[in-house]
Amino acid sequence: MSLEVIILAAGKGTRMRSDLPKVLHPLAGKPMLVHAVEQAQGLLPKCVYIIVGHHADQVEATVKPLGAECVPQDQQLGTGHAVAQAMPKVDPDAIVLVLYGDVPLVPTSLMQQLVNQAGDQSLAILTVTLEDAAGYGRIVRDHNGQIQAIVEHKDANAQQLKIKEINTGILAVKASLLNSWLPRIESNNAQGEIYLTDIVAMAVADGVGIMHLQPDHPQQTQGVNDRLQLADLERWYQRQHADQLLRDGVQLADPTRFDLRGELTVGRDIYIDINVIIEGQVHLEDGVHIGPNCHIKDAHIGMGTKILANSVIDQAQVAQNCSIGPFARLRPGTILHEHAKVGNFVETKNTTVGRASKVNHFTYLGDTKVGKNVNIGAGTITCNYDGVNKFKTTIGDGAFIGSNSAIVAPVNIGVDATIGAGSTITKDVADEHLAIARGKQRNIAFWAKPIKI
Ligand code: UD1
Ligand code: CA
Repeated sequence: MSLEVIILAAGKGTRMRSDLPKVLHPLAGKPMLVHAVEQAQGLLPKCVYIIVGHHADQVEATVKPLGAECVPQDQQLGTGHAVAQAMPKVDPDAIVLVLYGDVPLVPTSLMQQLVNQAGDQSLAILTVTLEDAAGYGRIVRDHNGQIQAIVEHKDANAQQLKIKEINTGILAVKASLLNSWLPRIESNNAQGEIYLTDIVAMAVADGVGIMHLQPDHPQQTQGVNDRLQLADLERWYQRQHADQLLRDGVQLADPTRFDLRGELTVGRDIYIDINVIIEGQVHLEDGVHIGPNCHIKDAHIGMGTKILANSVIDQAQVAQNCSIGPFARLRPGTILHEHAKVGNFVETKNTTVGRASKVNHFTYLGDTKVGKNVNIGAGTITCNYDGVNKFKTTIGDGAFIGSNSAIVAPVNIGVDATIGAGSTITKDVADEHLAIARGKQRNIAFWAKPIKI
């Protein structure tokens, strides 16, 4: 039996008070809707339909690359009306899983259980018991505990308002059953909407079995209506990942001050100090030590490397036993070989630093290849840009670059060459040569100091 997924995302999201559509607000650096689509794709459905309305073009631009198909809902007449928009495209024999674009953290495994429960014959709904059920549709049961209906908060009587088991909105059922119910839903309710939830009472009337499932954690089915709920959900998500890292053997100085916005894979005995942000795909080998306030994105960090406080690393490959920072910035295309040192206020871009080379203070290296055992003095700048084009610099093994040198690319500095401090180098330097390109010092004897007039 095939599976098709319908994700509702046409609503306005007024309470976010934002120009960005609600479902595109990021959680852990990724739009909420993308979380929902990716979790759904874990079920290998035949198709994922997104019901779009407000800001449809922006939503479509986000989900199209994921292979989801957008279906317009021009007027938001209710959740039942929203689902109905996709049904002409759905195979009647398929099982339909309905999700919300503003409920980002439903795990694939929970979706799978719901789909299994629905099978060919039943309506399976995801419910959760909340201490404060205000605003939600209530799950109404008879005295035998059998689910009878879902009653929306605004339509509920005093007795029903006391019910703490609520509808998450997520459900699974065979498409042909949905097709028989959706056209019969009326909008004679407090909100004048076409409620998807009305299919529960219809299923009962038709003798279709109603299955129900609850999440392990209420946050897994928590929807986001405003920025407070988004921030709370973000913290919960982060804490889950931090706790998992601790269990995996990573020492986090404080699991409440760690943020993961992507995927982190780790070796053993890693230490991560407070306020570190990991983004994109990051791998940390054994014994990596990360100081406080570092931002590391799309990087591979080799065994035993130390990243000191306040360093920023973006699309870099770092080998074993390197030392980075404090206050270093490795930009895209940076490669550090073993035992390389990149110190404070150093910026590298599209640059390779060879084994055991040192770039310790106040330096910019762009489009540069630095060999082994090179010492780059404080304040060295590779001038890689003439305002129009970029040029390359190569610095041979064992070279020594004196402090405050400007190296104007394209230029090659030979093996074991030395550059005198304060030089502006515009021509190649042969192996083992000394290059000095600075004004000559003159010492003037019997210099009469000016006197105050
Ligand atoms: C809905 C449920 C309620 C449940 C709650 C859980 C109904 C009638 N009620 O109520 O039982 O407890 O969710 O959060 O289903 N949407 C569309 N098109 C529409 C209307 C809504 O795409 O015409 C989308 C919204 O963008 C949103 C989702 O459907 O993602 C839910 O809509 P919302 O208006 O938030 O429903 P609730 O009133 O919260
Ligand atoms: Ca809602």
